[in-house]
Amino acid sequence: MAETIVDLRELPRAVAYAELTDQVKLVLEDIEDPICGMATISALVHGALGFLWTGFYRVVEPEKLMRVGPYQGSLGCLEIAFGKGVCGTAAAERRTIIVDDVSLFPGHITCDARSRSEIVVPVFNRAGELTAVLDVDSEIPGAFSEEDQAGLEAIVQWFKRLA
Ligand code: SME
Repeated sequence: MAETIVDLRELPRAVAYAELTDQVKLVLEDIEDPICGMATISALVHGALGFLWTGFYRVVEPEKLMRVGPYQGSLGCLEIAFGKGVCGTAAAERRTIIVDDVSLFPGHITCDARSRSEIVVPVFNRAGELTAVLDVDSEIPGAFSEEDQAGLEAIVQWFKRLA
């Protein structure tokens, strides 16, 4: 495997995500292992776009509890209940949530005090079941837009191959 992580911060986000989506497909082409996928996607996205924290919370008790999975960045909170924080809300409602100012999100869970904005994207398997969420944090307020939503939602389509 000769692929390297490329710095895509200078590109328009939509172009960067198109590149990342292709890279994910290529690098994970023969893989059927969710942890391997989460680790690789965290490394690719984090390395390419230089966010504060990029990683996954895995559903360990459906409708109740998620536990941290592979991530890049500072120490993540270990467990998040459905309905709690941005991650738990995105999981419970099965939709992407963009938070421009985390201080204004009721119940936001602070893992790293430097985080100012956040996007959380639900991850589904082949059967359409929620298996995880992808959480990305930034030190910059309002760092995420619909372009990030579309890009990250495209990337997590990879998990639809898994049972
Ligand atoms: N801020 C998240 C918790 C996870 S960390 O940011 C890594 C939340 O409110 O769900």
